[in-house]
Amino acid sequence: MSDFFAKSMTKFFRFTADTFFRQRYGHRAVVLENVAAVPGMIAGMLTHFASLRTLKRGYGTKIHAMLEEAENERKHLIFVLHITKPTTFEKIIITVAQILFSAFYFVLFLVSSKTAHRMIGYFEEEAVISYTDYIQQIDDGKIENISAPQPAIEYYSLPPTATLRDMLVCIRRDEAGHSAANHHYADIS
Ligand SMILES: [Fe+2]
Ligand SMILES: [Fe+2]
Repeated sequence: MSDFFAKSMTKFFRFTADTFFRQRYGHRAVVLENVAAVPGMIAGMLTHFASLRTLKRGYGTKIHAMLEEAENERKHLIFVLHITKPTTFEKIIITVAQILFSAFYFVLFLVSSKTAHRMIGYFEEEAVISYTDYIQQIDDGKIENISAPQPAIEYYSLPPTATLRDMLVCIRRDEAGHSAANHHYADIS
């Protein structure tokens, strides 16, 4: 049931994002990185609370991993904002999505942290696919391979001549790491 729910939610969100954004990869990244920065913060906070409530230790590694994930996603957002400016409508979506998704994820995590982590594990697999598509568009010459934003060059220690493609490869690697971490926490929850 847990896995079925996590997969169904992933399909639902994937379909919604595909319908709305189609080939607009920059805009897709701005809105979805915004949403992606939510679950790590909530999972970190609720795991922190669980440690306080149960008077038990042993939660530290997970709390830090989750908070780091949230920070990493926020960095992704900052980087993609250098490439694409969201429209007014997208800014409204970002606000509404933050309210709805954070409330949804908060409740889901309390009901079943296993399902919550599994769902993010699948979401992150979709992020890997989306960034692979984005990179493919550059390789096909459909999107210009401009210079990587300076904050991304510093964050990933890339050479000064690094390109958008180089940055996307780094971001995709982060997403694969988030997927593995969340599937791991789902396995042991
Ligand atoms: Fe991300
Ligand atoms: Fe991610």
